Amino acid sequence: MSLMDWNEKLNVGVDQMNDQHKVILTYMNTLYDDYQANKPFSVLKSSLDSLKDYTIKHFKEEEEYMESIDYDGIASHKIIHEKLLKTLGEHYENITSTQKFNDDFFHFLKFWLSSHIQGIDVKYGKLKDQKSA
Ligand SMILES: [Fe+2]
Ligand SMILES: [Fe+2]
Repeated sequence: MSLMDWNEKLNVGVDQMNDQHKVILTYMNTLYDDYQANKPFSVLKSSLDSLKDYTIKHFKEEEEYMESIDYDGIASHKIIHEKLLKTLGEHYENITSTQKFNDDFFHFLKFWLSSHIQGIDVKYGKLKDQKSA
């Protein structure tokens, strides 16, 4: 079973960002499915690396996008990204040092997806709508 499927609540109104969020979702679901299927740690670790690298790339490009539309909430959004990367890094350290994945990590991923995209990312999409209205 997927960790989380795409739904309209995750639509931020910007195609490029929606596409990147969908890629993140795919990485998360693959990792979760493999975790549930008890795949070897090396397989999970390789997905985790891809997810981590892609998340860093996404945050950078999302910040560039917010700059391009002069979004005034960019400073606080960047701080939230930094905090998320810090938490992701802590999970990463824990997972690589114990060589084990855990449910807490997947709760974090799911929480990040649902609350960050729906609660924070959607705000820059609303600004875009106001500007084009
Ligand atoms: Fe974001
Ligand atoms: Fe995002």
